[in-house]
Amino acid sequence: MAAIILLESSSVMLAPWHGLSARIQGNIRNPVFEEVHGEDLWSFGPANPSHNKLFNEAMACDARVVVPAVIESCIEVFKGLDTVVDVGTGNGTALCLLVEEYDRVENVGGDMFDYVPKADAVIIKWVLHDWEDDECISILKKCREAIPEDKGKVIIIEAVIDEKDEKEDSELTNVRLMLDMVMMAHTNTGKERTLKEWGYVLDDGP
Ligand SMILES: C[S@@+](CC[C@H](N)C(=O)[O-])C[C@H]1O[C@@H](n2cnc3c(N)ncnc32)[C@H](O)[C@@H]1O
Repeated sequence: MAAIILLESSSVMLAPWHGLSARIQGNIRNPVFEEVHGEDLWSFGPANPSHNKLFNEAMACDARVVVPAVIESCIEVFKGLDTVVDVGTGNGTALCLLVEEYDRVENVGGDMFDYVPKADAVIIKWVLHDWEDDECISILKKCREAIPEDKGKVIIIEAVIDEKDEKEDSELTNVRLMLDMVMMAHTNTGKERTLKEWGYVLDDGP
């Protein structure tokens, strides 16, 4: 938890929020993170190792909460698979947690828009929400190419915004809206999606 607070309260991550109003009003042409830092979050990280380290630690905090629950609910899905690739892995925490349960997982660097290594299954966690629909579809096509026709699986871990909950003001509504705003502040084209919006990405994809 500490790493998430340190990351989100860092000057790097706070600065884009100050440009969000201007961006929404159409007074800034570039996405705010790029406007403030001169490059997008994914280029900024490798060029700024201390920020990158903190970012990966924050992602690891999240993974420690989310991945065990995913493994528990996906145990049947993982059965019969020999190899798994974690796409957009960061420092590989999701993968490490998976490895504890599953001993044939591959961690390979590279640009997911170019190539996803071949495996029986691809796991992609909290990556697609960083990208717009066409970019998601491109990534998913690479994932699809990486897995075998017969037993291949693409396992996507993402939030789903429930339109009904929004109207009903559920306690999770603010969390979902907050995540959506984080995407606006920190990524160029990212957004959280409703089931219908995920359906579009998945149906038009692989
Ligand atoms: C929100 S983080 C999620 C990290 C990890 N999957 C997790 O859940 O902890 C998004 C990740 O996508 C990676 N990423 C961004 N652009 C990428 C690209 N073109 N190819 C591969 N990974 C990329 C970033 O480095 C970052 O680690």
